[in-house]
Amino acid sequence: MVNRMVMNVAIDMPAGLMETENEKNTSVYPEVSVGVPLVASPKMSMRNVDVFYGEKQAIYNVNVDIGQNEVIAMIGPSGCGKSTFLRSINRMNDTVDSCKVTGQLTLDGEDIYAAKMDPVALRARVGMVFQKPNPFPKTIYDNVAYGPRLHGLASRRAELDEIVETSLTRAGLWTEVKDRLDQPGTGLSGGQQQRLCIARAIAISPEVILMDEPCSALDPIATAKIEELIAELSKNYTIAIVTHSMQQAARVSHRTAYFHLGHLVEVNETEKVFTAPEHQLTEAYITGRFG
Ligand SMILES: Nc1ncnc2c1ncn2[C@@H]1O[C@H](COP(=O)(O)OP(=O)(O)OP(=O)(O)O)[C@@H](O)[C@H]1O
Ligand SMILES: [Mg+2]
Repeated sequence: MVNRMVMNVAIDMPAGLMETENEKNTSVYPEVSVGVPLVASPKMSMRNVDVFYGEKQAIYNVNVDIGQNEVIAMIGPSGCGKSTFLRSINRMNDTVDSCKVTGQLTLDGEDIYAAKMDPVALRARVGMVFQKPNPFPKTIYDNVAYGPRLHGLASRRAELDEIVETSLTRAGLWTEVKDRLDQPGTGLSGGQQQRLCIARAIAISPEVILMDEPCSALDPIATAKIEELIAELSKNYTIAIVTHSMQQAARVSHRTAYFHLGHLVEVNETEKVFTAPEHQLTEAYITGRFG
């Protein structure tokens, strides 16, 4: 199937591939029809999203829904805006002075950029796991207990203990660390640290988890554990994952969104994206023509 697709790739490179980042030529990009969410009411909905760093535009008119309990993968060449877009949907870009986000972005229908929306409360609802595991310089226990303490989620120590155990269990780390909870989180292996960061993210019961290349610093075994975990977590959470690994996107996601130079070129069922992509640019990327 893949070989046949490679042979079918048009010889002429689409104009978009020649384009530099500063020359906007939207004519080569289809108006992306909004991806069909897997549930009637999407968990998050993004419409006409533009993102700028100062004068420079990084995201152009992106429209996409993320369905409840869906795992959506975001793929595309380096610099195409995946992290920028992901960071816009929990207002992490607020921390970048030059960054401006426009458009309508909602969580359960609530405008996440509304004046009354508290970004700290929003980030508790839309948690994030980063590329490089970044445990706090605290014990394993305190890493996981940090968020629940901050948000006052436990009134007694026993309750906090339970949240810590449940979160570590869900993150697939409990049996490995239950006898060393008072040791520093930074003393764990890279893969364990990333699972600790996932436990820390889920300890405050977020509704959505954003993951920006969560496995890029991990070996194949640790990666496989995180991928299993994503499948498990998707029963309770909505997940958006940025990945450079097309195999990973194919393994973990229900739908895949392909970004190119700040445009969302295609969003479809993952199987369709990898076997019968709609857009030439997606096809060129997944068949390894560039990226
Ligand atoms: N803080 C920033 N200030 C200015 N420009 C930025 C900033 N962060 C990102 N950019 C620019 O925005 C564009 C999109 O970058 P982004 O990091 O979102 O891409 P990406 O798809 O996540 O890339 P990668 O796969 O390499 O992580 C790039 O041109 C990048 O240089
Ligand atoms: Mg990135």
